[in-house]
Amino acid sequence: MSFLTLKRYKVGTFALGAAFLAVIVGQKLDRAGVTRSVSPLNNDDCFAVPGLEACEDARWVDQESGLAYLACSSREARTLWVPATSHLNATELPTVSTDYIALLDINTRQYKRVRLDGLPPAANGIWVHAIELYRSPSNPNKLTIFVNSHRPPSDRSLAPTQGADSVVEIFDTEVGSDSARYVKTIQHPLVRTPNSIAAVTDRSFYVSNDHRHKVHWSRKFEVLKSNPSDIIYCDASGSGEAQCMVAADNVIYPNGLASGPNGLVYQASTIEGLMRVWQAQPNHTLAAVEEVHINRHFDNVHVAVTPKGVDIYLTALTKLFDFMAAGKDGGRSGPRPAVEVFRVREQSEKKSGGKKYRSERVFGDSGEIVMGSTTAAPYQNKLLLTGLFSKEVMVCTLKQ
Ligand SMILES: *[C@@H]1O[C@H](CO)[C@@H](O)[C@H](O)[C@H]1NC(C)=O
Ligand SMILES: *[C@@H]1O[C@H](CO)[C@@H](O)[C@H](O)[C@H]1NC(C)=O
Repeated sequence: MSFLTLKRYKVGTFALGAAFLAVIVGQKLDRAGVTRSVSPLNNDDCFAVPGLEACEDARWVDQESGLAYLACSSREARTLWVPATSHLNATELPTVSTDYIALLDINTRQYKRVRLDGLPPAANGIWVHAIELYRSPSNPNKLTIFVNSHRPPSDRSLAPTQGADSVVEIFDTEVGSDSARYVKTIQHPLVRTPNSIAAVTDRSFYVSNDHRHKVHWSRKFEVLKSNPSDIIYCDASGSGEAQCMVAADNVIYPNGLASGPNGLVYQASTIEGLMRVWQAQPNHTLAAVEEVHINRHFDNVHVAVTPKGVDIYLTALTKLFDFMAAGKDGGRSGPRPAVEVFRVREQSEKKSGGKKYRSERVFGDSGEIVMGSTTAAPYQNKLLLTGLFSKEVMVCTLKQ
């Protein structure tokens, strides 16, 4: 190889490398919605429930009663403390959390706070993120509430270097009751960065760890390259410590989780641009069965079982950088992040007995009416839209 060809070869490789990198970065910016304009869809028949502030997640009891349980905080607290987005200013937090579980009645549009009886004082309350419900099949009045709680470390000055002492709290209640009874706390080395919970029974569940590490320099660059994390299964049915195990490893930013019929678990990824369908195995590991690709950054997943099949609702952080910018001060100034919701319909195929997945956008708002939603929980023909740092909860009707 002469000097000249060598030089050309190098320049050629460099140009190819740069072009390749430009394509990758272009794809990332495209998914993050940098130039996306979100067209309105089903956002013209909505009402607000004022007072329900900074509720990251919500779950309906069922499709008849119109009762939903929400995990709520305040925008002030969200400015300081959201371990999932590396807001770790624990020294400024109140000693005892002001976060709470709310019970909303869609028919009266009224809500109340659920009193938590028996929570150990050392917990200093609940530090909420997501919420999950399990309803006893044998006694439909009996409900179990799961919340992941990001307790600040006892030496709060250590939060920026150690992250949160995150746990999963379990409470038992009766549908519609003013109070819930503390059952137990799951504090386990495998439950590092719990994000979303999918109940299996009243004492067992899957939980997504959104990040591999509680605190790590690479988290700043996760939109470009994310360190894969995992999904954990925990059984807290025994009298002693909960037994937890890795159910699925090497999962990129697993966020929302929801249980479906027949041991299926639906998982949204915040980075990968997809929803994954897992099948729970007899030994509780998860086997990947399907990927539904939608070019968005997803947060929570909710499931509605209808006579026609299973509908899965995915809330997209459709303009990701607006969402991150607004999160800096808990949504109180800065952009109003746009919202998009996608529905994936699961249908059984007659011939093969397998499943077929079809996705469509069912909700869009540029941030004017609904902003920064992290959850879209389906109730009949409505969506309950709640947000990590949204000022209030919104309910919008989906036109058929
Ligand atoms: C923590 O919060 C206080 C009060 O809002 C603020 O003055 C301080 O800059 C914050 N620290 C960090 C590291 O963000
Ligand atoms: C769990 O079961 C699956 C098959 O159902 C198997 O492939 C896997 O190796 C088992 N894992 C463990 C940890 O036992």
